[in-house]
Amino acid sequence: MSNSCESKGSCPSSKGGSCGTPDAAIAMQNMVIKSSLDKIKNKILVMSGKGGVGKSTVSVNLALGLANKGYKVGLIDVDLHGPDICRMLDLRQNLAEVGTNNGLIPPMQYGDNLKVISLEYMMENRDDPIIWRGPLKIQAIRQFIADIEWGELDYLVFDAPPGTGDEPLTVANTIKDAQALVVTTPQEVALADVRKSINFCKHVKMKVLGLVENMSGFVCPHCEGEVEIFKTGGGEKTARDFAIRFLGRIPMDPKVVMAGDDGKPYLSSAADSPATKAFDNIINQVFEAMPVASMPMPEAAACNLDLASQCGCGCSK
Ligand SMILES: Nc1ncnc2c1ncn2[C@@H]1O[C@H](COP(=O)(O)OP(=O)(O)O)[C@@H](O)[C@H]1O
Ligand SMILES: [Mg+2]
Ligand SMILES: [Zn+2]
Repeated sequence: MSNSCESKGSCPSSKGGSCGTPDAAIAMQNMVIKSSLDKIKNKILVMSGKGGVGKSTVSVNLALGLANKGYKVGLIDVDLHGPDICRMLDLRQNLAEVGTNNGLIPPMQYGDNLKVISLEYMMENRDDPIIWRGPLKIQAIRQFIADIEWGELDYLVFDAPPGTGDEPLTVANTIKDAQALVVTTPQEVALADVRKSINFCKHVKMKVLGLVENMSGFVCPHCEGEVEIFKTGGGEKTARDFAIRFLGRIPMDPKVVMAGDDGKPYLSSAADSPATKAFDNIINQVFEAMPVASMPMPEAAACNLDLASQCGCGCSK
């Protein structure tokens, strides 16, 4: 980066963006990030201590479930080394073919209400590995907020990689009102890692929206008997221990795997199964915890929000 300014960090021209110092560029980017985030009502970071517990599955189905209800939703894949969102939604667009709009990048669009960003959208060859250290990853995530044409959103969901590294840390540091949705599986080894995630949130002062126990039991498609493959109930107990909201259990369902692999998200099918009911319940709980004032459903808009009610909108139905 060129450096034509003598006064560096305190450069008076930094507001106009004409100063080449790194400090001025960061200050400028902070302003753009703030103005972008001001238009987004709720931010959710989906995280976990372990890989393979279902973060991406929960992120995709949560974002899609909220979009299906009529909310404006964004989904950012911040699992930079192992991005899965494009495959799970079968999004094949490439930025090189789309181009920018007044310097802003239009996100990929899934249906009417869901906007999606992943590094894969910007890559020439999606099978190339991302070999980046911290500063590059931090910058990429900041640009995912600053340089993308998000517009007004009700919810922005971040799909994080496992653990408590640069990616969740950048989201927590950049978005002060983001809340963490922690995903776990029920067995003790996973729960030990979840406690780390919850303590990470305490450390960075990020509110925990709640805990989801995924792969919680398996309903046999032949006899409908339930098999507790990884045990069940550990997530609920952990949530109780930490006094955080338990958002629900999602059973194992082979259709969830097929949906993820085929790029046809589970909630876009008409399937009526214990897993779809579980996702629906979680989406309703997230809405209760993070309501959006202007609800798109007319009958709900007419009555007051009462978080304790069965209906979720406060009416007596
Ligand atoms: N409830 C579930 N039932 C069956 N398979 C699931 C379930 N949740 C996730 N999976 C599958 O487990 C694998 C890992 O899930 P994924 O969402 O990619 O985890 P993570 O993002 O935490 O690494 C995927 O193949 C996914 O389809
Ligand atoms: Mg993932
Ligand atoms: Zn059976």
